[in-house]
Amino acid sequence: MLNHRLINTPKKPKKFVQTAVEFLNRHAKNKKVFCALSGGIDSSAAYLLLKEAKINTIPVFIDHGLMRIINGIEEREYIQKLFPDVRVIDIRNEFLPRIFGEADAENKRKLFKAAYSDVISKIIREESCDLLADGTILPDIEESFGVKITDLKETMSLEEEKELMEEHFEGFVKSQHNVEIEYDVDATIQPVASLTKHEVRKILEYFNMPQDLIYRKAFPGPALSARIIGPVTKENLAFEKKVHDLIESSVEKYYQETYGKIMVINKDGEQEPFQVFAAISEDVLNKKVTGLVDGKRTYEKPLCEKGEWDFSKLIKKASELEGYTRILYELETNKEGKYDVIIRSINSKDARTATITKLPLDLLKELSQKLLTFPQTKNIYFDVTPKPPATIEYV
Ligand code: XMP
Repeated sequence: MLNHRLINTPKKPKKFVQTAVEFLNRHAKNKKVFCALSGGIDSSAAYLLLKEAKINTIPVFIDHGLMRIINGIEEREYIQKLFPDVRVIDIRNEFLPRIFGEADAENKRKLFKAAYSDVISKIIREESCDLLADGTILPDIEESFGVKITDLKETMSLEEEKELMEEHFEGFVKSQHNVEIEYDVDATIQPVASLTKHEVRKILEYFNMPQDLIYRKAFPGPALSARIIGPVTKENLAFEKKVHDLIESSVEKYYQETYGKIMVINKDGEQEPFQVFAAISEDVLNKKVTGLVDGKRTYEKPLCEKGEWDFSKLIKKASELEGYTRILYELETNKEGKYDVIIRSINSKDARTATITKLPLDLLKELSQKLLTFPQTKNIYFDVTPKPPATIEYV
């Protein structure tokens, strides 16, 4: 199997789109292309480019039951409204029992990888697709290959890529579900491979997409399982969906009301907030969560800070942390509930590094009060740890 990636492209959206259309015609003209949509901006951009190039495409959205809800709208409903021709494949009944009870982060990733690839392989077979298009973007490639995109060629075989990955093993950060899987197609086709998130947003703007898509927060492939620390259960998943929506939607509303946009570019050129979400855990202070030291993932417990809210002091302390992977600032304690809720809001250019969004304490307190209306809520924390030394997600 081959991989075709569009590399070295002009950055201006109009020119980029022209180049992408040429690239797609070069590799996919008169072929049938499978395209998995995730509801996120990267795969949406890939799909829009395929449409622009008038490539015969089968767009598919896989609903495994761990997608987020934003403003009360399920990801599935959102994508159907955005792209009415998308085919929704519902695997909730098969997939959920498989992930329930699994606590290990890499195992969770593997389960998703297997579920995605099973569905994709089935449709590719049934529809006799020749190619598989995806929304892999620059940081995904550089983190899993451990090399710069300019070290790759437009067309490479899997063998060539494996060799390259082995040579640069020290650059590997984590496995990605959307690279290194072999499908029964002639090739994959990756039209947005050279773009950063910000550049992908520019392409969506060029295609006149709605603001809530352009500024949609990145969401990991392993979905809400990456935000439930420890084993996923039916009960904690239902709770996570509720608190996740509350936090993401409320912070977006705050940005909309304060800045007229749900995401801004701050003075450091970061997208603010790049991601905002709630993670949950039973007794988080006794759980090992991921950190990043010298580019490698580590697992250590978080440290709790309480008392004076001095944003700069907390960030400085979190940046110099040793022996722990995070500082969680305690917003509320509650003896009653079951799940600790951690509010995470980060600013970033490309998710490879991240700073903490300086949300006002009043807003954090208001969010805490709303969280406390759920009987399951126990202690509430705001994670003040940049990346590095923490990762964005907790697994
Ligand atoms: P971390 O947690 O490594 O996340 O700082 C960096 C970016 O990647 C997303 N993320 C993932 N995306 N599969 C994905 O497709 C994964 O296993 C995965 N883990 C993290 C995360 O949301 C952030 O944007």
